Amino acid sequence: MSRRGLLGLTVGAGAAMMVGAAGWSRLAGASTGRVLTSAGPLPRPFGVPLPVPPVARPVRSEHGTDFYEVEQREGKVEILPGRRTTVWGYDGIFPGPTFAARSGRRTVVQVRNSLAVPTVTHLHGGVTPPESDGYPTDLLLPARCAPGQTHDGMTGAHPGRTAVGYRTYDYPLPQRAATLWYHDHRMDFSAPQVWRGLAGFFLIGDQEEDRLPLPRGERDVPLMLCDRSFAADGSFRYPAHHDHDAFSDGVLGDVQLVNGAPWPVLEVAAARYRFRLLNASNTRRYRLRLDAGRGRTARFVQIGSDGGLLAAPQPLDTIDIVPGERFDVIVDFSAFPPDTKLTLRNTAAQGAMRNVMRFHVIRKEKDDSHIPACLSPSFDTLRATGSMPVRRFDFRRTQSTDERQMWTINGRPFSTGTVLAAPRLGSVERWRFSSDFHHPVHVHLAQFQVVARGGRAARAADAGWKDTVDVRPYEVVEVLVRFTGYKGRYMLHCHNLEHEDMAMMANFDVT
Ligand code: C2O
Ligand code: CU
Ligand code: CU
Repeated sequence: MSRRGLLGLTVGAGAAMMVGAAGWSRLAGASTGRVLTSAGPLPRPFGVPLPVPPVARPVRSEHGTDFYEVEQREGKVEILPGRRTTVWGYDGIFPGPTFAARSGRRTVVQVRNSLAVPTVTHLHGGVTPPESDGYPTDLLLPARCAPGQTHDGMTGAHPGRTAVGYRTYDYPLPQRAATLWYHDHRMDFSAPQVWRGLAGFFLIGDQEEDRLPLPRGERDVPLMLCDRSFAADGSFRYPAHHDHDAFSDGVLGDVQLVNGAPWPVLEVAAARYRFRLLNASNTRRYRLRLDAGRGRTARFVQIGSDGGLLAAPQPLDTIDIVPGERFDVIVDFSAFPPDTKLTLRNTAAQGAMRNVMRFHVIRKEKDDSHIPACLSPSFDTLRATGSMPVRRFDFRRTQSTDERQMWTINGRPFSTGTVLAAPRLGSVERWRFSSDFHHPVHVHLAQFQVVARGGRAARAADAGWKDTVDVRPYEVVEVLVRFTGYKGRYMLHCHNLEHEDMAMMANFDVT
């Protein structure tokens, strides 16, 4: 290990020591967090085909609006061969159904909660009115829970707009084509509820993207990356609530899933594919590399970021992707003869977790797709000016008076009544994120562009419109945030879901 790497580790370990013994193992990789070990045999890698979640169908469509109904319920699925896992899924599946929406066309989703716990649904990356944004205390109580009935965490502590049985989320989608996702956002419980399966893709298309000769149909594949741990009976393992402090850095699984399957394989033609990479892990960070065997690496060509198409494509040999982020990439398999196996690796991990999935080139295929040199003529690059308001958000661990670990922003744990910023609708602001640790910072509603990282220019992989950005230990990331869409209360938070549940969230009011 280089001296620099060791220094980074020591700094991280200083913060970790406060929570006890687990420091070294969790800091060994580039991931912040602690591994929760599975019981029972783990599947061999590359033994199951990659599933692709079904596309949701509207129950009806009217001029300009598509109406959907989806039910949150338990489902029994086979994730580990021969064993059953109960998931909490949208429509009982994990990942949930993929929504295929259009820019500027309203999508209305009625969510029914048939689980035994309250939920909140957030459309991550959506330009959504505040009532439908999935604010963490806007609970949807289970249908089975009679009005007036209270159990642990069901009501009470926080003011919010509570619904019982079902809630209708209204998504006008005044935004560009992009890869979004939806997931649970319940106050204090997002991490365990997403872990159990409450997440899915939400894709927005538009005319600008339609005109491009990019791979489509079967060759446009969403890939949801997340790690999980399992008990011997196949059920998901997650730390018990009283173990919170031991796992306060974050929970890492020891089984890598892609679209809900462990280390899967996708059979591909020797042609271009579009992969919409999403890191839906609670804590795990990935450094992705495409290993083509015999020391060769295949390249990714990035065409889009969280907020849609880049102005122009850029080749990347590796992709660092943190929880909440998306990378839209093209991989060209045409140079590989049939029967080549390429392995998507996570070089930030150890052991079996270095494998993510495999691509098996099985046939030749005619391919008339290509990657145009200009992807988005309408892309506007923001530039900082002296008159833009500057705000700082510092993401840091704090110990509360009762010795509990808390993750805070500007020294404060989340409270529904505290507002850290009041940007004006239509304005652009300079926001500076700093941190003591690895914190993937996510802003609701507003998209941003990264202009500086650690006092230098942004790195290549920071390109494009984003809603989530990797903020590394003792690094300042400066972004220009554009507030469009709606006025009202929104939030920014760390997308390490354990940090988020331990209060690393803050409000801002768009005025
Ligand atoms: Cu993907 Cu506020 O979260
Ligand atoms: Cu979000
Ligand atoms: Cu964090």
